[in-house]
Amino acid sequence: MQCSWKAVILLALASIAIQYTAIRTLTSKPFQLCTLPSPHNCGLGDQETESPFERGAGGCDDYPFFYVNASRKTHILVLATTRSGSSFVGQLLNQHQEVFYLFEPLYHVQTTLMPRLSHSHNSADRRVMLGASRDLLRSLYGCDLYFLESYIKPTPTNHTTDKLFRRGASRALCQQPVCDAFGPADVNVEEGDCVKKCALLNLTLATEACRDKQHVAIKTVRVPEIGDLRALLEDPRLNIKVIQLVRDPRGILSSRIETFRDTYRLWRIWRATGRKPYNLDLSQLTVVCEDYRSSVSTGLSHPYWLKGKYMLVRYEDLAKNPLPKTKEIYDYLGLPMDKNVEDWILANTHGSNEPSAKHKFGTLRDSAANAESWRLKLSYDMVEYTQTVCQKVLQQLGYKAVRSVQQLKNMSISLVQDKTFVPFL
Ligand SMILES: *[C@@H]1O[C@H](CO)[C@@H](O)[C@H](O)[C@H]1NC(C)=O
Ligand SMILES: *[C@@H]1O[C@H](CO)[C@@H](O)[C@H](O)[C@H]1NC(C)=O
Ligand SMILES: *[C@@H]1O[C@H](CO)[C@@H](O)[C@H](O)[C@H]1NC(C)=O
Ligand SMILES: *[C@@H]1O[C@H](CO)[C@@H](O)[C@H](O)[C@H]1NC(C)=O
Repeated sequence: MQCSWKAVILLALASIAIQYTAIRTLTSKPFQLCTLPSPHNCGLGDQETESPFERGAGGCDDYPFFYVNASRKTHILVLATTRSGSSFVGQLLNQHQEVFYLFEPLYHVQTTLMPRLSHSHNSADRRVMLGASRDLLRSLYGCDLYFLESYIKPTPTNHTTDKLFRRGASRALCQQPVCDAFGPADVNVEEGDCVKKCALLNLTLATEACRDKQHVAIKTVRVPEIGDLRALLEDPRLNIKVIQLVRDPRGILSSRIETFRDTYRLWRIWRATGRKPYNLDLSQLTVVCEDYRSSVSTGLSHPYWLKGKYMLVRYEDLAKNPLPKTKEIYDYLGLPMDKNVEDWILANTHGSNEPSAKHKFGTLRDSAANAESWRLKLSYDMVEYTQTVCQKVLQQLGYKAVRSVQQLKNMSISLVQDKTFVPFL
């Protein structure tokens, strides 16, 4: 009973926020910009009692970051799907000295709102989730990490928590001044070591660390389509650059089968027995392809609201030529690529002869030479099936379909067509 009341209230608040956003987007009045980063006009304030939805609809007072020169900060968004190599791309940003990187902060929105909203994928639920996601992203790009507190369970006390999802994946959160266990020169702090050795995360310190960096990067697999972000991309207070990361759906399927053993159990049965189980959840495959098709179509059709803010990256291209491709990404972002990034690439890809056993980022298991290893793992009929369901997307992205087992298993023929996706500038 209590739960459903909360849901009603949340929904009401969310729809108010969405309406506000819509109204604000439509008004011709320019956004008020704060001229000075003073705590009085743009400080964080004592807003922890407010609902995130209410805050999301507010103006300058709610945001600590709308300085007139805020446009110098680049707000990088890696838009991906699970098992498409997004941890790898995240690392390429995380390693940069001047980037404050957050790994999947929208996880908290999803886990908080999902149990309250019904599980059916109806469009009202989806709008609430996406509205909340956009508000959180907007706040995080402004280094307002307190905004996350409404979504963290248990609610942080005195702005500290040990429940931030994958804190250890963020370099800045595992180093001084946020964590005293590691100095600023400690690159490659293992995620597990960070969690073990760093005390509670002090969100005030994290906020300061974020402000000290030139740029903010966020990776998410929790936004299905780029169109869902339009309101954020059009927000003149932000300077977002989207990197849409895609991967061959056949590779994604194979990787998910290996990784999510329970949820993809029936696919494993198919692979092992050669028989497609009648109760197979096809949406586990079709959703990826549908989201890609719609998202990529939008991106590649170059709508005006994406101008200067969109680059499509194929994971396979990155895996094949990590250094030059990363350089291209940094060129698009308008940032110099620093030595840390280069060192990380050399240490973590086929550029190095060292076995990758010591790296546990979840990035290497399928990176580099392994980008096409799915061909040896999936059976031909699974591949054929995927090609049928995802035909359009394969074509769009330049992944070749195979017509025989020989073609599938002959690794000397690449299934990745040469195709250039230039950033939309
Ligand atoms: C804005 O400009 C002022 C003065 O040039 C500078 O001190 C400040 O660091 C700049 N802020 C950002 C976010 O770039
Ligand atoms: C929070 O800080 C206050 C004041 O310093 C202190 O009294 C209180 O015990 C702290 N709460 C927790 C849960 O640590
Ligand atoms: C968190 O860091 C801030 C800034 O240094 C400090 O004032 C505050 O006391 C810290 N909070 C806790 C609970 O230690
Ligand atoms: C694999 O493909 C290459 C290039 O088409 C061909 O020369 C080779 O004979 C094929 N290998 C097998 C085992 O079919």
